[in-house]
Amino acid sequence: MTLEVEDVHAYYGRSHVLQGITLTVDDGETVALLGRNGAGKTTTMRSIVGLTPPRRGSVTLDGDRITGRPTYRIARRGVAFVPSGRRAYGSLTVRQNLALSVRKGRGSGAWPMERVLGMFPKLAEIADRRAGFLSGGEQQMLKLARALLSGPRILLLDEPTEGLSPAIVGDLGRWLAILREEKVTVLITEQNALFALQYADRGYIIEKGAVRHHAPADELRDSAEIRTYLGVGADA
Ligand SMILES: Nc1ncnc2c1ncn2[C@@H]1O[C@H](COP(=O)(O)OP(=O)(O)OP(=O)(O)O)[C@@H](O)[C@H]1O
Ligand SMILES: [Mg+2]
Repeated sequence: MTLEVEDVHAYYGRSHVLQGITLTVDDGETVALLGRNGAGKTTTMRSIVGLTPPRRGSVTLDGDRITGRPTYRIARRGVAFVPSGRRAYGSLTVRQNLALSVRKGRGSGAWPMERVLGMFPKLAEIADRRAGFLSGGEQQMLKLARALLSGPRILLLDEPTEGLSPAIVGDLGRWLAILREEKVTVLITEQNALFALQYADRGYIIEKGAVRHHAPADELRDSAEIRTYLGVGADA
């Protein structure tokens, strides 16, 4: 599905955090949303899903305006927000977590369980463990699996590599490559800009709640100015 964010402004109390964010994610694209700490990446995602509703501007899905709708209705339209950090249902087992997502899944876009377990075979091995005791990498797997089972039409991934070991980051890269091949529509934020740009078609760089630059991913990867801005070493 196509997501269009147009001149979105959002606040935390009186603090004007998003100051006119405009971006598009076309159907089947992976788009990276980059910027320094506090630039407004997470808030942009929260605004899209209605957790921090925009005070101005609009968010549309395939041309339908969803601005100001409640979060559960936006989720029902197939927008799957995967927040950073550990947030799976801790006291439920992995199997129970997955079953819940299957129940929520919408027929057409939902990935079948076999396909999801094929992508994350480890989840079958740890099916009877309580989600709260999983490692960071296992939790990330579970969150992604749950999102895919729910039949997303667009995935919003907020810093999926946060807290993961390099080996698991490598796995995550393979999953992102699969999502891209499968033409799943993805918006991803990352501290690790070069990692995200490896799997993205295009990227936006935001600063102080507004888009400062956008370009094809390979252009951003190769730009010395952008690399300096994002704090990426020249040899990375
Ligand atoms: N709940 C909140 N209440 C007040 N201010 C907040 C809240 N959450 C974030 N902010 C502020 O809003 C601004 C944007 O934060 P946001 O979390 O969107 O940035 P970010 O780009 O995701 O940063 P990071 O890379 O650190 O995750 C920051 O100045 C932050 O301090
Ligand atoms: Mg953030």
